[in-house]
Amino acid sequence: MRDAAPTTVYLKDYTPFGYLVDSVSLTFDLVPNATRVTARIAFRPNPEAQDRTFFLHGEGLKLIGAQIDGQDVKPELTDQGLTCDVPDGPFLWESEVEIDPANNTALEGLYMSNGMYCTQCEAEGFRKITFYPDRPDVMSTFTVRIYGDLPVMLSNGNPSDSGDGWVEWTDPWPKPAYLFALVAGDLVAHSDRFTTASGQEVDLNLWVRPGDEHKCAFGMEALKKSMRWDEEVYGREYDLDVFNIVAVDDFNMGAMENKGLNIFNSAAVLASPDTSTDGNFERIEAIIAHEYFHNWTGNRITCRDWFQLCLKEGLTVFRDSQFTSDLRSAPVKRISDVIDLRARQFPEDNGPLAHPVRPESFQEINNFYTATVYEKGAEVIGMLKRLVGDAAYAEALDLYFARHDGQACTIEDWLKVFEDVTGRDLAQFKRWYSQAGTPRVAVEERWAEGTYTLTLTQSTPPTPDQPDKAPQVIPVAVGLLGPNGDEVRETQLLELTEERQSFTFEGLAAKPVPSILRGFSAPVILDRETTTEERAFLLAHDTDPFNRWEAGRALAQHTLLDMIVNGTPPEPAYLDGIQSVLRDEALDPAYRALMLGLPGQSELAATLHERGHTPDPMAIWQAVETLRQTMAEHLQDLLPRLHAEAQVDAPYRPDAEQSGKRALGSAVLGLINRIDGGVLAAEEYGKADNMTLQLSALGALIRAGKGAGQLAAFYDQWKDDRLVIDKWFGLQVSLAEPADTVKVAVHLTRHDDFNWKNPNRFRAVLGALAMNHAGFHHESGAGYSLLADWLLRLDPVNPQTTARMCAPFQTWKRYDAKRQEMIAEQLDRIAAAPGLSRDTTEMISRIRG
Ligand code: PHE
Ligand code: ZN
Repeated sequence: MRDAAPTTVYLKDYTPFGYLVDSVSLTFDLVPNATRVTARIAFRPNPEAQDRTFFLHGEGLKLIGAQIDGQDVKPELTDQGLTCDVPDGPFLWESEVEIDPANNTALEGLYMSNGMYCTQCEAEGFRKITFYPDRPDVMSTFTVRIYGDLPVMLSNGNPSDSGDGWVEWTDPWPKPAYLFALVAGDLVAHSDRFTTASGQEVDLNLWVRPGDEHKCAFGMEALKKSMRWDEEVYGREYDLDVFNIVAVDDFNMGAMENKGLNIFNSAAVLASPDTSTDGNFERIEAIIAHEYFHNWTGNRITCRDWFQLCLKEGLTVFRDSQFTSDLRSAPVKRISDVIDLRARQFPEDNGPLAHPVRPESFQEINNFYTATVYEKGAEVIGMLKRLVGDAAYAEALDLYFARHDGQACTIEDWLKVFEDVTGRDLAQFKRWYSQAGTPRVAVEERWAEGTYTLTLTQSTPPTPDQPDKAPQVIPVAVGLLGPNGDEVRETQLLELTEERQSFTFEGLAAKPVPSILRGFSAPVILDRETTTEERAFLLAHDTDPFNRWEAGRALAQHTLLDMIVNGTPPEPAYLDGIQSVLRDEALDPAYRALMLGLPGQSELAATLHERGHTPDPMAIWQAVETLRQTMAEHLQDLLPRLHAEAQVDAPYRPDAEQSGKRALGSAVLGLINRIDGGVLAAEEYGKADNMTLQLSALGALIRAGKGAGQLAAFYDQWKDDRLVIDKWFGLQVSLAEPADTVKVAVHLTRHDDFNWKNPNRFRAVLGALAMNHAGFHHESGAGYSLLADWLLRLDPVNPQTTARMCAPFQTWKRYDAKRQEMIAEQLDRIAAAPGLSRDTTEMISRIRG
């Protein structure tokens, strides 16, 4: 559906709705092209509101009839909704509409996926189901009756009644409409039970299409672990008799926390050792936890308006990362999160799409489900916890749940509980929510007569609509090491609140080496001129696992930039330092695998740009290739031993221990591959008995230019498994050489299995294209025009996924004039398309600037 001229919504304009909703009763008569929805909604005037305009959202609905207190009414309709004259006191609104789920390709509202009905209402999809005040501060209980000829018909809450061809669900917890869900289809359940801490029995079901039953066990275990963890760590129990999860193949995002009926992209829940990698398992465990945790942080306490999205998302991401740290390795999780933050959030925060964690305006809210709202939003909570301490954090959370249960809240409410518990003024801290951009912290040091002084200076570059920034509260965790590598000062939290501030450490016998921003204590960029020797020293001795890794990463970055800019050969101190770390068998294999990683090529381009160079994607690619080859040769003698250490004898388990070994094995295989030209990879492919090993061997073969036979065999083996075939598509594009990337991608878009209307498949090819830095930015510009072609094709079908896939263009101003010109041409071509969706229009115009 095409939209009219876009309008901008502002946080400052918030007003409450003129009416409260006491109850909602819905009936669905499910028919693919003509589903009837009747709604009975009990309204009453909201004493807190001034404006009594009765406006109900509604889009793409065919109104059959409407009544107020049983009398027919003729509301005034627009393409956004309806208005109607209503009585002064309480009244019953009834309406009947017809919708067409079978032709809903946008995957928002009620739609069909493989013959199954399902819904997606966040953020503003409920208005495509019936006329309603579709805003999160309007909360109500819901009763839902579903009529249909389908074996399984589900909605929120508990089953309350059923008859021949119909079922009824009642959700006793008041909720906003965005948490509404309905699923109906031919589904089978993997079932289990959970007893809550207070003894309530809960039925757990994971609903999948017949044939997927063998991919449910892991998700179910993850759910039970999440339920237990939330009781033990946050004191939060589940609150219904049943918890349902459904897997659907066509879904725009990862998953959705609908009350009592979570709906998941099948890629984010279905798992088996044969078809899923260790990375898939870990991600699934985290997403199950994330959606489950939303039951308290999001559902019981929801958002007043969509500007407050980080209230539920930042907190829930923070909670799911705590969960993963507790279940697996905390340092490995922290390092992975920072890698991800730098790859996805930093480019956003430092480009044309920069926006505060709590944005102040938007055209299309779907464009604000971003790494800034989610991941930076979680970092902000991590900082708050670090600043107030664990005990005060726990107390503040208890107060938050006690005070705001059942309410639709704001960031002000959230910060207030921390102020009340600690007595601390958080006015300055709040700038983390209102100022966009990644702060930079510059470090100066002074040493004199036993006193070491660190002077920190903060600054945040201008971002769209925010030319000037005020200083933020930056928690900087610092430890000091003595010349022999011993820690002479344990980690201490410095609070940088001024623009420039000094901190002294007295009584030291010798000039220490500082370990700054331990654990990545704040989402900032540290500007620090330091020597290779010092980095190598920290790589060898730092007791903080994050900063030890960070020292290796800094050395890698330094040597790569030097190679690119000055043509210098790879830095021996880096190679030797990494070698010592790898030799240390006391270190977790997963940690050593991370040590073998290099900064991403896009990240290198960003750093070059920041330092006044014009990044050349081909030169970056070449430097990474050269460094990898040098590493392989330098570490050659050690590799067989590491490879042996990485072998797993026990039956496959996707836990931290085994996956750590496989991660190390895969990194080592990548290096051996550069020496033996694919011999070991072919051998490993032949004997791989799980997807992690199979895919890592296949990747190595492709890189060695020897994978053609195995690629074809892989396809034959897995052609009936859509999630594995997504990997097959993605891998070929990700691993293609720069000059071949577009050719490979084009070829795959012509494959019979390229169902481009399926978001997972679309992303497997076009997302992988955009992630292949040197291939996407190939000097021909063919990468840019291919992505633009597909965005134009997808936009009328699925605006949300199209808009999200515009993001790869956000970094365009980093590159040379020729590339900028070619990208601008594509952006303008997209913008000029007649009837372009509001989603994509907003993204393209923000990126174009
Ligand atoms: N609220 C979902 C989550 O973070 C994400 C989502 C947003 C899903 C919008 C669908 C649509 O868990
Ligand atoms: Zn979420």
